[in-house]
Amino acid sequence: MKTLRIVELIKSDAVDCDVTVKGWVRTKRGNKNVAFIALNDGSCVASIQVVVELAKFDDETMRQIATGACIRVDGRLVKSPGEGQGVEVQASSIEIYGTADPATYPLQKKGHSLEFLRDIAYLRPRTNTFGAVLRIRHAMAFAIHKFFNDRGFYYWNSPLITASDCEGAGAMFQVTTLDLNNPPRTEDGRIDYSQDFFGKPCNLTVSGQLEGELGALSLGRIYTFGPTFRAENSNTPRHLSEFWMIEPEMAFYELEDNMELAEEFLKYLIGYALENCREDLEFMCKMWDKELIERLEFVLHNDFKRLDYTEGIEILKVSGRKFEFPCDWGCDLQSEHERYLVEEHFKRPVILVNYPKEIKAFYMKQNDDGRTVRAMDVLFPKIGEIIGGSEREADYGKLCARIKELNMNERELWWYLDTRRWGSAPHSGFGLGFERLLLFVTGMGNIRDVIPFPRTPQHAEF
Ligand code: 4AD
Ligand code: MG
Repeated sequence: MKTLRIVELIKSDAVDCDVTVKGWVRTKRGNKNVAFIALNDGSCVASIQVVVELAKFDDETMRQIATGACIRVDGRLVKSPGEGQGVEVQASSIEIYGTADPATYPLQKKGHSLEFLRDIAYLRPRTNTFGAVLRIRHAMAFAIHKFFNDRGFYYWNSPLITASDCEGAGAMFQVTTLDLNNPPRTEDGRIDYSQDFFGKPCNLTVSGQLEGELGALSLGRIYTFGPTFRAENSNTPRHLSEFWMIEPEMAFYELEDNMELAEEFLKYLIGYALENCREDLEFMCKMWDKELIERLEFVLHNDFKRLDYTEGIEILKVSGRKFEFPCDWGCDLQSEHERYLVEEHFKRPVILVNYPKEIKAFYMKQNDDGRTVRAMDVLFPKIGEIIGGSEREADYGKLCARIKELNMNERELWWYLDTRRWGSAPHSGFGLGFERLLLFVTGMGNIRDVIPFPRTPQHAEF
């Protein structure tokens, strides 16, 4: 007998055949003669209806089949007389793999709030909403690899444990084997990291970019796709302590080329979701965000606005809008500013370029004006910043001078600086926050709801 996943079953035209289905019971209802079990196996939003003639099964088996139980059903696939479902399975035998006590099983028939589900993140993938989100997450990961593979980029793995702080924000998780309650000390009383595992302080990476640049300056075009870690105390719906980032890095790309790639990339991913995740998107649209599909179509079919930071600030200043954080030339934009530009002023995604060098990282290529750098942030409706990137400073002298100016440790970056000493080349890249992309594509409002196990301040239990 053929075991089919429910997604295959409900689409199959082959009725009147014997099948096996396996999955988790969503609901059981019925009368004294017959029970209807809605069975879901995580392969799609839909559950298949299993029809059980009670006379053929013992009471104890039927009692154990409750919401949450895992069962195997052998039976006949037939056309369903019920409305809204094409096929159903008439059970001939049922095996119970695992019971779930209805008195303690946290997921009940009724819908639960997202807040409640966050507290039971280890079980929420069994709900329709998280099933849909996580299937879309998978499809996007696949599409990312496909996009870059089709364009001659190589998948590059930057280290997760590193001694460098790419973004210079100092928000790093330290990795150490020392007992920090009782660390070895040097003669002058400092912690003696020479006795640490790596012989010096290390941290979890905040970005794979610096090592990614080494890839671009040897293989031409690379992309990373891996977890990154930030120990900033940001309790917002758009920040995680552990998030996944996609960082393409390209030799011989200038800022213009970088912008073009970013726009093409985002549109490709949105188009891919619309084509390949239709049912899950329709479900998300119905449940959480009525305008989701419309918004995705809109972004797919409209050009992103390219705008200078300086012009952006002017627009914000004359907007007459009272922002929580006032802004002037030189300030870092808050998401309220970004969203004003995108949602209210231009009404489409914006690529903001040429930021003041003071608010951007050391590695960005400096403009001739002496005060701005060739940075680009892609700003999206509902999200704000979804991509951050830049053309990189390829000039050894300028890069060293900037590192000195910022009081950074030049000696620690020797390997990075060497790329500018030997065969330096113009190059650019950017980082797309995977979960920010998923916020946009799924229509969810909180970044904690687009990753299986969110890591946030005070939360890393499961
Ligand atoms: O702007 P960021 O900090 O840029 C970099 O890390 C560069 N090294 C990227 C590069 O040029 N290769 O981060 C890039 C993106 C942001 O635009 C945002 O989408 C996401 O990463 N991001 C976060 N997502 C979730 N939680 C956080 N705490 C995030 N911080 C950044
Ligand atoms: Mg940024």
